[in-house]
Amino acid sequence: MSHFNYQDGVLHAESTSLSDIAAQFGTPTYVYSKAALVENFDSYANACTGRDALVCYAMKANSNLAILDILARRGAGFDIVSGGELLRVLAGGGDPSKVIFSGVGKTVDEMRLALSHDILCFNVESIPELHRLNEVAGSMGQTARVSLRVNPNVDAKTHPYIATGLKANKFGVAFVDALDTYRAAAALPHLEVAGIDCHIGSQLLDDAPLLEALDKLIELIDTLGSEGIVLHHLDIGGGLGIDYGEAGEAAPVAVGDYLGRLFKRIDAWRAERYDGAPIKVIFEPGRSIVGNTGVLLTTVEFLKQGEEKNFCVVDAAMNDLMRPALYQAWMGVQPVVQRDGSANLYDVVGPVCESGDWLARDRILSAQQGDVLAIMSAGAYGLTMSSNYNTRGRAAEVMIDGGQAHLIRQRENPADLFALESLIK
Ligand code: LLP
Repeated sequence: MSHFNYQDGVLHAESTSLSDIAAQFGTPTYVYSKAALVENFDSYANACTGRDALVCYAMKANSNLAILDILARRGAGFDIVSGGELLRVLAGGGDPSKVIFSGVGKTVDEMRLALSHDILCFNVESIPELHRLNEVAGSMGQTARVSLRVNPNVDAKTHPYIATGLKANKFGVAFVDALDTYRAAAALPHLEVAGIDCHIGSQLLDDAPLLEALDKLIELIDTLGSEGIVLHHLDIGGGLGIDYGEAGEAAPVAVGDYLGRLFKRIDAWRAERYDGAPIKVIFEPGRSIVGNTGVLLTTVEFLKQGEEKNFCVVDAAMNDLMRPALYQAWMGVQPVVQRDGSANLYDVVGPVCESGDWLARDRILSAQQGDVLAIMSAGAYGLTMSSNYNTRGRAAEVMIDGGQAHLIRQRENPADLFALESLIK
């Protein structure tokens, strides 16, 4: 169910008018629905009921502390990719024993920080990383739990910039090298081989590539077991897509259906090979937890007629929401207050000095100067990927809970943006 609906012609988040939110907090502002967030997380949690499973929210999608806190209270673990994200987890009330650390370039300091908090597992992506982690753990008198991120060479059929499981991608250990890499890991004294993981890409609408990747992992777990390397968990990564509302785009598979098929396959395998002994299953969803929980509110500054196109110039820009500029992503645009009147075809663009600064192209809108628009399904990879380009402060973030609005991140003040800079003497 969507928590963003029109009531008497005004777009609401839950029971709160987004017109009122724009008036109270200004624009551009990200607005999230707590009910949507809880519902999305629960669709994973419910499908895992009674199982040894952990949902590690991939916080790169949206790492606001209020969001982390809500998810942590519901039992979420976290998939992090930097020391900074670990500090956020701690500040947001997350449990480090439910944290997994992904990423190809972990630094010594980041490893040290994560070990000092005894995180659940490091998802290691290369042999040099294994050696570095072994040394760091040894120097601290600790043992690091590791899982190898294996690249199953599965085509996720998504945008090339967000496909990660192909041979040409920088991620993971090649499937053909996985066995040797596990042997190397098992021989290192300060590492404990705990699991296996993969993440094949993002915004996957179909779960077939994920189930194909699962089969590859299963094959590898069996081979490792026959060598005496017994794995305790299987991490299938994230990647499930959401419905951005683009005409002609297939609807994404439902979370419950995907997890149902995945557990069915795992149960059959465990029954056949391991007398039904379960294996812990970890998920790393990002977009499917937060994507449709948020919108970006923006105000129309000018309507401009170009020679070939009409432009709807708004106060949000590529620095606030990078997805269109970076991936040619399609984002829905809706008026906050529905109006009758003549509609026109527009490109919705921001004020940043780049031709790539567009949020939507070729949309029919009946907008007027001063109207507020909502860029839909902007809860994932929105604020977290924003920048200060053109010395623009980042947008405010507001969380709606029923009829209440909470400011969960203040709008950045331009003076703060250069506060860390200094002149040379
Ligand atoms: N695990 C790992 C190791 C990842 O690299 C990612 C995302 C996830 C989990 C979560 O994937 P999700 O469930 O959100 O698909 N900025 C792009 C998406 C980049 C995804 C990066 N990795 C976008 O806006 O489409």
